[in-house]
Amino acid sequence: MCGIIGYTGYTDARGKLIKGLKTLEYRGYDSAGIAVFNDTLNEVIVAKCEGRVERLDEKSKDIKGNTGIGHTRWATHGGVSDSNSHPHKFGNVTLVHNGIIENYASIKNQLGIAGKLKSQTDSEVVAALIDNYYHIGSDPSEAIIKAVREIKGTFALGIMFDDIPNVIYAVRNVSPIVCCVNDDGAYIASDITAIGEYSKEYFVLPELTIAEISKNGIEVRDFQDNKVDVKMLELDWDINNSSKKHYPFYMEKEISEQPEVIEKTIRSRIKDGLPDFSADGVDDSIFTECENITVIACGTAMHAGLIGKHLIEKACAVPVNVYMASEYMYCDPIVSDKTLVICVSQSGETIDTLEALKYAKSKGAKTLSIVNVKGSSIAMTSDNVIYTNAGPEIAVASTKAYTTQVAVFYLITAKTALLRGCFNEDETKSFVNELEKIPQAVDDILQRKDEIHHLSQSLLTAEHTFMIGRGLDYPALLEASLKLKEISYIHSEAFASGELKHGTIALIIKKTPVIALLTQEKLMSKQISNIREVESRGATVISFVKDGLQTKDINPDFILPNLNDDFMAIPAVVAMQLLAYYVSADKGLDVDKPRNLAKVVTVE
Ligand code: F6R
Repeated sequence: MCGIIGYTGYTDARGKLIKGLKTLEYRGYDSAGIAVFNDTLNEVIVAKCEGRVERLDEKSKDIKGNTGIGHTRWATHGGVSDSNSHPHKFGNVTLVHNGIIENYASIKNQLGIAGKLKSQTDSEVVAALIDNYYHIGSDPSEAIIKAVREIKGTFALGIMFDDIPNVIYAVRNVSPIVCCVNDDGAYIASDITAIGEYSKEYFVLPELTIAEISKNGIEVRDFQDNKVDVKMLELDWDINNSSKKHYPFYMEKEISEQPEVIEKTIRSRIKDGLPDFSADGVDDSIFTECENITVIACGTAMHAGLIGKHLIEKACAVPVNVYMASEYMYCDPIVSDKTLVICVSQSGETIDTLEALKYAKSKGAKTLSIVNVKGSSIAMTSDNVIYTNAGPEIAVASTKAYTTQVAVFYLITAKTALLRGCFNEDETKSFVNELEKIPQAVDDILQRKDEIHHLSQSLLTAEHTFMIGRGLDYPALLEASLKLKEISYIHSEAFASGELKHGTIALIIKKTPVIALLTQEKLMSKQISNIREVESRGATVISFVKDGLQTKDINPDFILPNLNDDFMAIPAVVAMQLLAYYVSADKGLDVDKPRNLAKVVTVE
């Protein structure tokens, strides 16, 4: 959470910082700020305020200079206020911070600075600690390294000194920093989307190294002062794609990109009709040598894992456990060198998933990650990576990242089933062939989005909704329900239909909206009985039914395209994404930036 940015060079810094912060706002939008070195005054000037970057833009118009750092905040330590906004200035040092400093209270006591601090943040204490070392004679890099060695926690820091004009220092532990250079100067940011327009070539600052950023370039050294060679990466996203184009919200744009990005994710991994991960460098042995599979992820990414569990267990007869990353390490998981751990993450930076991955590795597990952001921490830590080709996902609510993650699980299922002899070659080809139909099925739904828009109207005034489904429809509804609640603020719970009567049915009263998903032929009659149970308690049921499964007993409100039952999860969720989207947009909410959330969760 929190986004940081920095620029030093030959042109105006303020404009670049504000523009970059607008892109980074998905990482937190409680407050924003910039600090720019003013050559006339010979000091770093700070402008910051509670609220969105737009407000900061208005407030900072007079700030001039060619070197600066910026921050957009998701509050952790200290409430949402002007004073808790970054950058923080203490003595000679001004900094922006993404992460959490666990031992800030003891450092504060040790420095005896309680009365001098202007904020309640952990970050300002780091500024004070660096300033302290700087004052007692260390050079800037030394002061930063000494401070960083003392702090416990996660951090990406952008640092400026009042008496070192036009230089920025950056240092990180876990929280990401990417860097690039062009003829105009040098740039750092939490995420390449903020600076990708300046250069296609960039690098991820290695952990526990320090970068000195000047208009001549970026020099990276380790803490023993040795020069570090960085690994250059190529940006393969069209950065113009990170603009909203004609869409009112990124979420709608990202929903509409799904046929294309699912196609892109699977196309390069199908050779002669069979799944092929050789271009990803993933060795077949990880699928054959494991005795069990563990999927670790959070939120939407975990829901993709639940679909993966269903598919792999059915096709490959390998036991699959799915863990919430935040719980994994603390429940004594059964993990050994016979376990394949699959971590799923859009950002590749979710701290719980990253820590769980490191834990699994330490226990000898083979690891594979399904990640969207290239060079991200989870991707770099994992033994193997399969990148989803979803492109930048800006809306906080994940859509295209989820469907591409699920698409990868289909490929993994096909590969594992083939390698373990559960499918023969023909069966594998027909499975892959069905997967290839998904982009078209998603497109069919997008063409009929007005029907979903119409259905969404009945939810606008709802306070609670329930979603019911069986088999593969249940994990699909867990995702549907998360989408609805996070962007529309309507309380929603998804249930395996048969489970509802074991307690929750008590909450169904007259006109409670219940969304029913019916895509699994063998479960139709049972699902229809469960629909009758809620209808007879007064519920208003909105049904999404696979084409061909409609009978006299169920009159669908929306007909989903007809694919093999095992492939319905993606089309069903896309329909539900649209439903949630329209409810949120028509309620006049900020669809892309729901309250209290941030896209990248780098705190435990
Ligand atoms: C919800 C959503 C979150 C993320 C979760 C994990 O729409 O996006 O639930 O899925 O925070 O994030 P990543 O995938 O970046 O690890």
